[in-house]
Amino acid sequence: MMSRVILVEPFVLVVFGATGDLSRRKLIPAMFQRDAADQVPEAAEIIGVSRAKLSREQFVAQAMAAVEEHVPQNERPAIVAKRFVKRLHYVAADATSDSGWEDLARELAPFKDRAIVFYFATGPAFYGPICERLGRFNLAQGNARVVVEKPVGKDGETAHEVNEAISQVFPEDRVYRIDHYLGKETVQNLMALRFANGLFEPLWNAAHIDHVQITVAESLGVEGRAGYYDTAGALRDMVQNHMLQLLCLVAMEPPGQLSADAVRDEKLKVLRALKPMTAPNWVRGQYRAGASAGGPVPGYLEELGAKESQTETFVALKVEIENWRWAGVPFYLRTGKRLAERVSEIVITFRPVPHSMFGPETGPIQPNRLVIRLQPDEGVKLWLMIKDPGPGGMRLRPVPLDMSFASSFNVRNPDAYERLMLDVVRGNQTLFMRRDEVEAAWAWIDPILESWSQSPEPPKPYTAGTWGPSAAIALIERDGRTWSDGGM
Ligand code: BG6
Repeated sequence: MMSRVILVEPFVLVVFGATGDLSRRKLIPAMFQRDAADQVPEAAEIIGVSRAKLSREQFVAQAMAAVEEHVPQNERPAIVAKRFVKRLHYVAADATSDSGWEDLARELAPFKDRAIVFYFATGPAFYGPICERLGRFNLAQGNARVVVEKPVGKDGETAHEVNEAISQVFPEDRVYRIDHYLGKETVQNLMALRFANGLFEPLWNAAHIDHVQITVAESLGVEGRAGYYDTAGALRDMVQNHMLQLLCLVAMEPPGQLSADAVRDEKLKVLRALKPMTAPNWVRGQYRAGASAGGPVPGYLEELGAKESQTETFVALKVEIENWRWAGVPFYLRTGKRLAERVSEIVITFRPVPHSMFGPETGPIQPNRLVIRLQPDEGVKLWLMIKDPGPGGMRLRPVPLDMSFASSFNVRNPDAYERLMLDVVRGNQTLFMRRDEVEAAWAWIDPILESWSQSPEPPKPYTAGTWGPSAAIALIERDGRTWSDGGM
């Protein structure tokens, strides 16, 4: 099946931090893929900006090396590579001084009427200084918009400062705070599933749902990012943004329409209804040496090259939402590095049947579960009880109604950045976080951080390649429930 492609208007994408990791791994390959899909008009341009004094040829060589590394060979025909190279330009400019900014202004001068997308793929410390210069050099005008990577701040106060600096130059309707989880195909499917089917919504509440689990497990460690990661930890890196966004999409009321503010208003209400967290509803962990993908792997401290760190690489939380729909329904959240598998999924467990007419010989009746798998093997499974086939007695077992997106549609699953970057060009903010959402998320996270920073208790150790500290298992088991490990 072919996916439908609609050409976007000509644009100029200006990437600050163009030689960095995010540009190489995600942004440049994503733009190449959209170009290969014939969605990028001929006149569109990409300007890389960084401090390095590179020639255009050197930048092009770096960009195309990134494409070769991250786009499979059969998806990069020579004809696309040739036109993609023509789009690439480079300006050496410094975020913290005026050096190079006249050059950037000159480069952008012919494009005053176009959508100009300024993408901040730099450390957050540079967002303020770049914004200030975009304003001073008159580059933030008209049709210009800005894309800001997470983390927006490291707590509520710093997020407010960053947002203030941005708002001096860009009005909110031109600010795109990216959370790449919202660009994942299955995450959007969650909205389709909930709001384009009459089946689930009547059951989507405390009367019928027992609990919800959201797991984002990674098998990799912190890789080359230990420096950043140690200042963040899993709560800031994953929970404040990706996990809370997933929770919002599961828990929000049906928006009146699929418009940016209608969706974001509903997500905001969920964030504001989160019950403040207290012990013992959280567990934080840190991995020790162990095994992953069959081989030995070092512990977090060894990867960090430090003797000691209180940074958590794993978090499990029992979250409650204080509103009519969700009162009494726990949302168990769990995320970590170096876990047993790479799997992200949302599991909705319905309440058990009120009465079983079957005798003990039929086996236990398991509650229905709806499993939404974000990665890998994107798909949805609805687990139902059925009768074991055959002429014997009445024996029951759970069997899934199974929809794998890969095998059902046979299309390449685009990377989240492909969709999100073109949404910016199209001016569609639905899948981006609004300022009040980000600040509401921090308002809920801040007291947890505060409490952890004052606690003498270090993160609980767990062996790499497992499902995290045993306390995380206890967190859910004391409620008589279990984690749905790799629950598909
Ligand atoms: C990023 C985090 O936002 O998301 C990383 O900073 C994490 O630490 C990554 O590895 C996970 O994204 P994905 O798309 O690979 O699940």
